[in-house]
Order: sequence, then structure tokens, then C-alpha cells
Amino acid sequence: MGAAISLRADFDAEGVRRLARKSKHAAQARRLLALALIYGGGSRSDAARLGNVTLEIVRDRSRPFAGRSSKLLTQRRLRTVFGKGKILAENDYDAFAAAYDADNETNAWNAYYERPAILALVGDVAGLSVLDAGCGGGAHAAALLERGAVVTGIDASAGMLEIAQRRLQGRARLLLADLNEALPFTDKAFDLILASLVMHYLADWSGPLSEFNRLLPEGGRLVLSTHHPFMDHASTGRDNYFETYSFDETWQRGGKDIAMRFWHRPLHAMFEALKSAGFQIDIVSEPQPDPEARTLFPRAYQSLTTKPRFLFFSAVKA
Ligand SMILES: C[S@@+](CC[C@H](N)C(=O)[O-])C[C@H]1O[C@@H](n2cnc3c(N)ncnc32)[C@H](O)[C@@H]1O
Repeated sequence: MGAAISLRADFDAEGVRRLARKSKHAAQARRLLALALIYGGGSRSDAARLGNVTLEIVRDRSRPFAGRSSKLLTQRRLRTVFGKGKILAENDYDAFAAAYDADNETNAWNAYYERPAILALVGDVAGLSVLDAGCGGGAHAAALLERGAVVTGIDASAGMLEIAQRRLQGRARLLLADLNEALPFTDKAFDLILASLVMHYLADWSGPLSEFNRLLPEGGRLVLSTHHPFMDHASTGRDNYFETYSFDETWQRGGKDIAMRFWHRPLHAMFEALKSAGFQIDIVSEPQPDPEARTLFPRAYQSLTTKPRFLFFSAVKA
């Protein structure tokens, strides 16, 4: 996540290590450390200590080349795949913001399934102060504004926020923020928090959920949608459903291969995380798509009406 890093011929590994130490974003820090290791020297055990780092390497803008590495992050291997160019981390929405937003705007999964379902769950928001966490290009924020809410949107991608800014034309407050960090708002700043399709990017729900709890008054509501754990587990082919684990996918958007990393967690872990953060679940929903999708997207409609895809929660601050 975050902006791409341009490499320089006079690569300053110590400088990059210093930047990594100062970085407040764990993913960015790991990416910077990986860079310092690759170009500034280090050992196999240094590489292993970084854990899973996925880097997408673009040697030449006209011919994107995706290289993946994790614990195989050895210098020899990386020297063979790295040229000078741009290095992008996983889930780098900046790299495909416009393409993502255009697809999200009209596709079956977002426009005819997730958005109508979560907005129905949210219900009447007139006069409420709403935080749209992981707001992306602002499609939900626009709908909330139309329904009379006062909206703040946060996202970790500056590229997605630019799109939201263009869409919302100053009608919502938009801020760059990472849900893995403390959020820049005072206690009880919002009546309602919406988190659409962002929780499955988070390795640990406890910090973000306790921040959401802090930002709500008693009785305030959190409404979220996330990958259905039966859907993502089935697609990964992993053995143990009960583990919380990350898995990678490659998305094709805007003519590029985009490295994505998601977190699977079992159903009970979601319930426990919400409860431990001080929420009482009032609705669990496995909705059906908008009936219009039947003619517009027959294959997606068939899939969405027969297989789990996303899971929706409404939870109240106890
Ligand atoms: C699948 S998109 C969903 C966007 C929008 N909520 C929607 O449903 O249309 C996921 C969004 O979450 C953002 N995101 C991912 N990880 C995040 C994090 N740690 N903190 C804040 N935003 C994050 C991404 O930048 C992206 O805009």
C-alpha cells in the first residue's frame, strides 16, 4: 500500500533504513527494509525476518513485470529479477485507482450487490455524522450524502481519495489514514461507521475495531462488509479453515497485473473480534443481489444467488 518508490542509481541503503525506522506504516516500513536489503546488502536471515513481503516490480512502464517474493527474498534471486524502475507493494490502490473505481462503479459485485446491500443495512442516516472507513472512490459516501448524512471518508490510498474528491466536490471531509494506526479523530466523533470491503485487508482486527469503538457513542453503530470466510477459504485451497491467514491474488485492472493480499479469518474470529472490541452484533446478513443483475450480469447473478461472497455485520457499541 502507499506510493510507489522510485529507485535512484546512487541508492542510499542507510538512508532508506532510516526512513523505514521512521515510517509509521508497518507495510511501508517492511517494503523500505526490503529495498535496503536488496540494494544495500544483507543476509538470508535478514530477508527471512521481513516475513512476507510481496513486491511488484515494473521494469518498464510499457511492459509490466510482476515478480513475487516472500521468504525467498534472497539477494541473488532478487538481483536477477530487479532492474531499475518502480517497486510497488501489494494492495497498492494508487497504482490502479482509476481502473478500480470505474469497474466498482458498474460491476455486479459492487454496484448490484455490495452497495445496495450495505446501504439498506445502514438505513436512515439523515443528520448523522458518518465515517466511511476505507472509502475508496467515494461511491458509498456519495449515497450517504444524498441521504442527508454528514460524511467523513478515510482511506490509505491517496489515489482513491483523489477520485473521491472529484466525485464529492468538497461535500465530504476526506483524509489519508491507515486503519492499522490510531485514527485522527476525537472520541465519539461519529454516530455511525461504515467499513465497506476493507476489513479483509487487515491482518488484525483488534486495533481498528477498538478505534471504531472509541469513535462512537454508546448505541452508535458499525456496519461492515467483508469477504465471506467460506468464499475466501474455498478459493485459496488452504487446509485449515480455522486459521487466520493471508493469501495473495493477482488482479488484472487497467491493463496491469496488480498484486493483492487479503486476510482470511474464520467466522468465530469475526464474532469474537467484534465482541472483544465492545460491540454487540445486531444483524448478520448474507444478502441477495439486486434483481436487475439477473439480466445485466446473468453469470454473476447465478453465482451471487447460490454461493456466499461477502458477509455483512451491523454491530452496536455496547
Ligand atoms: C475494495 S476497496 C473498497 C472501497 C469502498 N469502500 C467500496 O466498497 O467501494 C478497499 C479500499 O480500502 C482501502 N484500504 C485498504 N487497506 C486499508 C487500510 N489499512 N487503511 C485504510 N484504507 C485501506 C483501499 O485503499 C481501498 O480504497
